[in-house]
Amino acid sequence: MSSLLLAVALGYILGSIPFGVIVTYAGGGGDVRKIGSGNIGTTNVLRTGRKELAVLTLLGDTLKATAAVLIANHLWGEPAGIVAGASAFVGHVFPIWLRFKGGKGVATYLGALIGVAWPVALLFTVVWITVAAVTRYSSASALAASAIAPVVLAIWAPEPLALVFVGLSVVLWALHWENITRLLAGKESRIGQRPAASG
Ligand code: G3P
Repeated sequence: MSSLLLAVALGYILGSIPFGVIVTYAGGGGDVRKIGSGNIGTTNVLRTGRKELAVLTLLGDTLKATAAVLIANHLWGEPAGIVAGASAFVGHVFPIWLRFKGGKGVATYLGALIGVAWPVALLFTVVWITVAAVTRYSSASALAASAIAPVVLAIWAPEPLALVFVGLSVVLWALHWENITRLLAGKESRIGQRPAASG
């Protein structure tokens, strides 16, 4: 098997570990897929009211992608690291363990960015925190950060890297379609709030 295929496999396996589901079950918070928006990510784990579970989910979902990039980079070189990071994002969004119904990919996107271009990951985090501080919308923060990151990558990094993250951002935006609809309708729940209806 070529090194790029191995990187795809490594990234997918690590990315598909559903930390939100595991951490919430293990912490006695039940099935995160049955509360709030039903999403398996940090924002929805926070809706259990257990901040420590949300922090663990954020760390797990982020660092699994960073680990995928760094391991693949070390074993097979930089292109393999990029492939592993993108593959970790895909694994998080379409995990085989959850019948391919995973999360919206924000933390895993950030984790891949940390691995391939940490200054851009820092910018992503600053944008996320700034928008969240102003709006209290997790989704709007993720949408803004993921719109800006590929643009900065295109200026700062070699072309293939920016193109990969354009692709990941398009998927991330598509996965937030219901959030976008609710934002436009003024019905999106703020950070820590439970949505009025699941979706
Ligand atoms: O990372 C997902 C976040 O942007 C929105 O999550 O649960 O409100 O759909 P949620």
